[in-house]
Amino acid sequence: MDRRHFLAATGLAAVSPALGHAAAAASAEAPLFSSVNFYSDGVDYTPAEYATRLHAVATREDFAADYYSLGGAVESLEKKFAALLGKEAAMFVPTGTLANHLAIRKLAGTDQRVLVQAESHYFNDSGDGAQALSGLTLVPMGLGQADVTLDEVKAWVERTAGGRVKTPVGVISIESPVRRRDHAMADFGEMQRVSAYAREQGIRLHLYGARLFNLPLHSGKSLTDITALFDTVYVSLWKHFNGASGAILAGDAAFIEGLFHQRRLFGGALPYAWPQMALVAGHVDGYQDEYARAWRDTEALMALLAGDGRFTFTRVPQGTSRYFMAVKGVDAVAMAGRARAHGVLLPAPHPVTGALAMQVNPSVLRSTPEALARVLVAAASG
Ligand SMILES: Cc1ncc(COP(=O)(O)O)c(C=O)c1O
Repeated sequence: MDRRHFLAATGLAAVSPALGHAAAAASAEAPLFSSVNFYSDGVDYTPAEYATRLHAVATREDFAADYYSLGGAVESLEKKFAALLGKEAAMFVPTGTLANHLAIRKLAGTDQRVLVQAESHYFNDSGDGAQALSGLTLVPMGLGQADVTLDEVKAWVERTAGGRVKTPVGVISIESPVRRRDHAMADFGEMQRVSAYAREQGIRLHLYGARLFNLPLHSGKSLTDITALFDTVYVSLWKHFNGASGAILAGDAAFIEGLFHQRRLFGGALPYAWPQMALVAGHVDGYQDEYARAWRDTEALMALLAGDGRFTFTRVPQGTSRYFMAVKGVDAVAMAGRARAHGVLLPAPHPVTGALAMQVNPSVLRSTPEALARVLVAAASG
């Protein structure tokens, strides 16, 4: 069907079967594993979907529970991530916030200054925990930018070295992609230069990589090309890999050895972590391929919607998983309500511009670009 012909076939009554979704999608009888969301990093399981998958995994003969986050499924996952990230060892941590804190405080030791991006989660969204809990001084760099430049790093290291009281820079932490810059990635070439310089200076490096697994598609660099620049790496388990919560912290064996005592010190040793992370292993291996296919389908969807004339799209420079969608002459809240009834979940529109910050994730593979375009065009038409 050509694009114009296809877009003419609108009307919400016509679109439900295409998604395999009855109009009662929002009700308790909605079919499981069928909704497509445009706001999350993962498929965003509902409680019923999560419980269904958890039952399937936990009743496998070889599934073993952990105890106090040690052993069993937790240990297998740690080994899997250590190998994927090219590091000797890894540790499960119940949240990313704690994983980054444990990594940076140990890397810093007594060298308390830590260079971070002004736009980073660590600087903005961790409640000044670095200062309050571990006596670290965070130095924010690059206001409004995703990149960390060698020039700025050098300027701070040199200024610090000239202080009357010795306060050395112990760690450089780089977040990439950067959530507060719409998931733009930090430039790889600059990261390489910063890493080489830091190593010359004896400064340790932490990769704040909640969404690290999205970088290879957009940067052309493999996971290990990127992680090799850093001493320690954090990856979220609940964003791409659909855990209920959790994070991985990877580094060399000596760094991870005994670190579980610190995890416990900060109240982070869950007596049973397995219900949080049991689904993760099943999502890791296929993730990069699914994400690439999700982007391919998203490009096809954008092309179909552009043919309607009301939909326009904006890309993020150095972008990864985000794009913006605007729909001319349409009440975006009402449109989202209509799409939701058909299992297509949109983000809340920007309160002033009405633009939708759309997120690419593998849930888009539950449908087809054609079916999704039909739902969105019909939802925009009222
Ligand atoms: C970039 C980044 N790092 C860290 C975190 C914190 O992760 P957690 O919620 O697991 O503590 C988030 C959560 O939104 C994030 O976006």
